[in-house]
Formats: sequence, C-alpha cells, structure tokens
Amino acid sequence: MMTFLIAVGSLVAICGILALLLVIADRYLNDYGICKLIINKGSREEDVEGGSTLLNSLNSAGVFIPSACGGQGSCGLCKLKVHSGAPPVLPTEEPHLSPEEVSEHVRLCCQLKVHEDMELEIPEELFNIREFEGTVESLTDLNHDIKRLRVALPEGEELDIIPGQYVQIETPAYKKTPEPVYRAYSIATDPHDKTHIDLVIRLVPGGICTTFVFEHMEPGQPIKLNGPYGDFRLTDTEKEMIFIAGGSGMAPFLSMLAHMRNENIQRKVTYFFGARAKRDLICLDEMKAFEEALPNFKFVPCLSEPMPDDNWDGDTGLVTDVMKQHCPDLSNMEAYLCGSPGMCDASVVALTGNGMPEENIFFDKFS
Ligand SMILES: Cc1cc2nc3c(=O)[nH]c(=O)nc-3n(C[C@H](O)[C@H](O)[C@H](O)COP(=O)(O)OP(=O)(O)OC[C@H]3O[C@@H](n4cnc5c(N)ncnc54)[C@H](O)[C@@H]3O)c2cc1C
Ligand code: FES
Repeated sequence: MMTFLIAVGSLVAICGILALLLVIADRYLNDYGICKLIINKGSREEDVEGGSTLLNSLNSAGVFIPSACGGQGSCGLCKLKVHSGAPPVLPTEEPHLSPEEVSEHVRLCCQLKVHEDMELEIPEELFNIREFEGTVESLTDLNHDIKRLRVALPEGEELDIIPGQYVQIETPAYKKTPEPVYRAYSIATDPHDKTHIDLVIRLVPGGICTTFVFEHMEPGQPIKLNGPYGDFRLTDTEKEMIFIAGGSGMAPFLSMLAHMRNENIQRKVTYFFGARAKRDLICLDEMKAFEEALPNFKFVPCLSEPMPDDNWDGDTGLVTDVMKQHCPDLSNMEAYLCGSPGMCDASVVALTGNGMPEENIFFDKFS
C-alpha cells in the first residue's frame, strides 16, 4: 500500500513539475513577437505583444470584454467569435460552450493565448465600453457584511447607464493577488446622477476583491472601473412585476426603482427581500421612501431564521415560499431576480410553479 501511495505521489509531483516547466518555458523562452488582432473583418486592427491571453490583449488595446471571474474560466462571460488563430476548444472552455456556439467559433477569450494573428468578431456595443479612473468618494456600512461604495467619476466625465447594468472594478495587486483582477458589480446609482457610480458589495470571506474593498479601500483613493455592461433591464410592458433578491442583490433594484420614480412609472411591483435575521436587512429607509414615492410599490422583507430578540412580526420563511403565499397566480406577471445562482434557480422553480411563463423571468446571476 505504502509503495503504491509513494508511486502515485511521485507521479503527481512529476506531472506538476512538468506543467510548471511548460508554463515557465512558454513565458520566457517563446517569443511570439507582435501579433495582429483583426477585428470585424478588418474594420479595426490592433497590434499586440504575443503570449498574453486574448482577454488581456484586448483590454490593453482598450477593448473591454465582460469578465467576472478575473480570467479563471468560471464565469463564462468573456465569449467572442474567433475565426482563426486559435487552437481547438480547450477542456477549460467546454463546460461553458454549447454545441451551437462551438460550431459558430464562439470561444472564451480569457482561456486563449495570442500566439499568432487572430481574426475576431466583437459586438459593436462593446466598443462603447469605457474605462475610468475614478475616486472612492465614500464607503458606508449597510450592515455587518455589506458596504455601499460610492465612486466619483473624473472631473468632466459622465456615464449613461441603463438600470440593471453592471461595471467591473479593478482590484490592484496586493497580498492576495500578484496582478490586478477585475470583478463585476451591479450599478445601484440613480440614473439621473451621471457623475457617480454606487455599488453594493457583500464581503466574500477570503475573496480577492471584496477583502480589498473591506480592508484596504479608503475615501480619496483612485479606483479603475470599466463599463457599463449587461442586458438585465426592465421591459417596457405594463405587466405587474416581482423583484426577488437578498443581500447585495438589491443593487440593480435601487437603480431601477430610482428610474421608476424619476420617470413616474406606475407599474405595480412587489420586492421580496430574503434575509436570515434582522441584522442582514439593508436600506430599509430607502425602501420606505420608494414606497412613499411609488404608490404601486411594496417592499416585503422576509426572515428565514429570525433571532428571538429581533421581535420580528413581518413575513418569515424562505423568500420563495413567502413569494408563493403572496402571489398564488403569476401567469400574467414578470419577475426580476438578482443574486447567487442557487437563489435565482430556486426562484425560477417557485415562479414557474405558480404559473409564470419562463420567458417572463429575467435574472442577473452573481456567478
Ligand atoms: C454580473 C454580475 C454582477 C455582480 N454584482 C454584484 C453586486 O452588485 N454585489 C456583490 O457583492 N457581488 C456582485 N457580483 C459578484 C462579484 O463579481 C464577485 O464575484 C464577488 O464579490 C466575489 O469577489 P472576490 O474577488 O471577493 O472573491 P473571489 O476571490 O473571486 O472568490 C473567492 C472564493 O469565493 C467564492 N465566491 C465568489 N463569489 C461568491 C459569492 N458571491 N458568494 C459566495 N462565494 C463566492 C469563489 O468561488 C471563490 O472560491 C456580481 C457578479 C456578476 C457576474
Ligand atoms: S473571464 Fe470568466 S470565463 Fe473568461
């Protein structure tokens, strides 16, 4: 048994060393020179230093591709059509690409290295994405693990957003990351305010970006962000709506509700906010103000595990169960969901179970 374990351990160690040597060789011995990125049949061309990922090469050329996982191949947001210059689909890409996408040459650009000239197809709207170096204006505790980050854009700059969109913020290199990484955050700003970006950020224990925000970020610091991205937005129907989100998933709804108030949109909407206990609730005063400004808006916080000293007399139970009790027939309504994939998936099951057609459900998953 011992001999077997030693043999397996040695094999794993040898494979690890070989993989490391390959990475070092690729990094230092291969010189790919300058490679050309030929974009949209030559309507734009960029010369980039070969050897880096396609995602980073495009970023350095000022073309910002959505990415939420810092290029780790887990979010699946960085899809582009690559018509030449790429190897066959990599194992790390496979889980994110459908057979149709593979046949249409869709690839994850964070997984591809630029080793030769490449022909790419990039949706025109991505060229409108801009990068800013803003300033942290304030960082406010909303509860024990959620902060509101307010960023002032540089003097004279403005950003038009559609409520529901998100930006990516850069975490600079620090003890948790040797190089800068980007993470996505939904915009919580009143869209009338074009000179600030508000974000609602929940601490993920051990997380690279959120640890930086909670432990190292201070008002006055510069902060790089780019955007806006995403097509999560209100439809222009008159259908009654349900919002479901807990924690920092409230972010896009702050922006959507401000938009409804600004434009005097009177659609009926009920927002079910799921939390464990009273200490997890956020923005109660803002929700009250929206209820006063929008007579057809109702905020329903529900606690799944209220503490004895919470003295809670509101709704209790899972947010999906509370929503089902309030809304037995959802067949002619729309739902907007924001938060973890688990929460969004459970909500879809609950909504369709009460008669909501799947095409009436819109979500932004914090994957
Ligand atoms: C479109 C979009 C919008 C988003 N909007 C928001 C927002 O408004 N507010 C917000 O707080 N977050 C939002 N997120 C999530 C955010 O992008 C980061 O994933 C999250 O803040 C963690 O980043 P990190 O660098 O601290 O953690 P990482 O260093 O990336 O992760 C550390 C570990 O935590 C795990 N992890 C990552 N995210 C979570 C999570 N949310 N919960 C539990 N475990 C996690 C990872 O798998 C990893 O094991 C959004 C994500 C997307 C895709
Ligand atoms: S950036 Fe997340 S999969 Fe590519």
